[in-house]
Amino acid sequence: MCGIIAASTERSIGKLLIQGLYKMEYRGYDSAGIAMHTENKVAHLRALGKVKLLEDLMINEKPKGKVGIAHTRWATHGEPSEVNAHPHQSNERIFIVHNGIIENYLELKDELASKGYAFTSKTDSELIAHLLDSYLEEGSSLLKATKQLKDKLQGAYAIAALDHSDPNTLVLARNRSPLLIGLGEDENFAASDPLALADLTNKFLILEDGDVAKISPNNVEIFDKNNKACKRDIQIIDIKSEAASKGDYKHFMEKEIYEQPNAILNTLDGRVGGDDVLENIFGEGSNNLFAKVKRIQIAACGTSLHAGRVAANWFSAIAGLPTQIDYASEYRYKNPYVDKNTLLVTISQSGETADTLAALRYAKDQKYLASLAICNVPTSSLARESDFLLLTNAGPEIGVASTKAFTTQLIALMLLTLSLAKASGTNPKLRSRVIQALRQMPDIVEKSLELKGDIVDIASEIAQQDNALFLGRGMFYPIAKEGALKLKEISYIHAEAYPAGELKHGPLALIDERMPVVAIAPEHELAEKLVSNLEEVKARGGALYVFGNAKEKLSLERGKYISMPECDFLLTPILYTIPLQILSYEVALIRGTDIDQPRNLAKSVTVE
Ligand code: G6P
Repeated sequence: MCGIIAASTERSIGKLLIQGLYKMEYRGYDSAGIAMHTENKVAHLRALGKVKLLEDLMINEKPKGKVGIAHTRWATHGEPSEVNAHPHQSNERIFIVHNGIIENYLELKDELASKGYAFTSKTDSELIAHLLDSYLEEGSSLLKATKQLKDKLQGAYAIAALDHSDPNTLVLARNRSPLLIGLGEDENFAASDPLALADLTNKFLILEDGDVAKISPNNVEIFDKNNKACKRDIQIIDIKSEAASKGDYKHFMEKEIYEQPNAILNTLDGRVGGDDVLENIFGEGSNNLFAKVKRIQIAACGTSLHAGRVAANWFSAIAGLPTQIDYASEYRYKNPYVDKNTLLVTISQSGETADTLAALRYAKDQKYLASLAICNVPTSSLARESDFLLLTNAGPEIGVASTKAFTTQLIALMLLTLSLAKASGTNPKLRSRVIQALRQMPDIVEKSLELKGDIVDIASEIAQQDNALFLGRGMFYPIAKEGALKLKEISYIHAEAYPAGELKHGPLALIDERMPVVAIAPEHELAEKLVSNLEEVKARGGALYVFGNAKEKLSLERGKYISMPECDFLLTPILYTIPLQILSYEVALIRGTDIDQPRNLAKSVTVE
């Protein structure tokens, strides 16, 4: 959802800014731009399309500069175009990049227009440049102007700005959109994600909401929401640079699918011991808290919500706890009733999804026992603002379609289930069984990756269609939903998921030879009923693609049966996710879509 990067150095920064933008392309990739102090002017280049096009422009124009800002965009206000691309400028003096949404932009735009400022773009961001310029006109420095800006802007922003007449300094501001400063030797940087600066430093200052900062090559000054000079603790964040490279894989998504056995190992590492889950892995005092929990409320978006839907089954079956689950974007609009002793659980790969953060912030004023986050990014707002936290430790996920983040969220949620059950002394034998099964998961997932050959055959058939249905029952229904989401995200095939029993209540009308049906059918108590549902599809000429472990129970006329490895029933949702990821990936490959950066999407959705 837009990535910004800024550098104030003593060396040439063009390449460095472009490299940083490449690493943040997952945040948006419809246009990109750069503004850099050069010898006599600010070089200002913008390109419609991906960062590569901006890089080509830079190669042609060869601007040289040591201080500058850059941006990769995901359009919110105004279509993707060169004029709507950042940086925006005012009077060739102020240049800004912005991530977020300015909610009162119409009002501010009118105010600035009446002062004579002409707008060239349709964005909400351009007014930031004009507003800063208007304060400079009144005699403010860029730093003072940025502090004044805070009183005017409503909404979310991470901003980096430069002033033509001050060639060493950059000014930053943050409110509800991520922004951190990277500290170097005689050089300082800022970015939306530490990944963008991974090759430059491992020392970071994470800005808080309301902070304004001024950076030059040798100095960093930070001012808090009350404009008082303040210090932020240095955090060491080591990101291996290979995390941001595809290695031998064609796409990040493919790499991330194959990283899952290792990612799962990392999620489990240091969290289980003997035949139970370790104490307080969600933070000091979490075990005492868990003993009081009587109910769970989950809020999350997209794939993370699907993880929550699976976990709701586990909370009830293993820990005996009822769960309410909501789209984070809906949750706070329904006046949620908060029962006594309810734990709020948010789930987010990025920890910066605006709706999920808004849900957490809303919930803080309600009578929850506490808030707990399952998150992959330790420096994220969600991780920092929640009372309790379990990091999934999956490593950076770059592909827009979530894969390893999802399966590790499921592992983390199972650890939460076990911790809750342990705190109330529930199901000790079952807990020990699940712990043993969790330890085997990396190997079982590894085995499931070998199914690729069979899946490629199915992919070539599904790739010819425009629609697909996914079926699953119980805790496999959310896995069917996740399979359908993955397929539509990256192959643009329209896909929907249903609990298998619902088929006859409407969707059966859609079944014909052009509607492939993907079924998740591990052998369990519902499997026989599921088989009857699948027979209903067969009887109407639909092609069935079944993932299961009881082939003998079903004879297929059209389609294919994929025999899955065995695993503990409670963990099968994790296992059955893998072939569905591979299926979407292979279908998208055949259809030639942009797999890592599907059209219209962004990985980190930092606007509500
Ligand atoms: C976007 C991404 C999805 C992701 C969702 C929630 O829509 O494209 O892959 O599941 O955001 O993101 P989060 O970071 O909160 O898990």
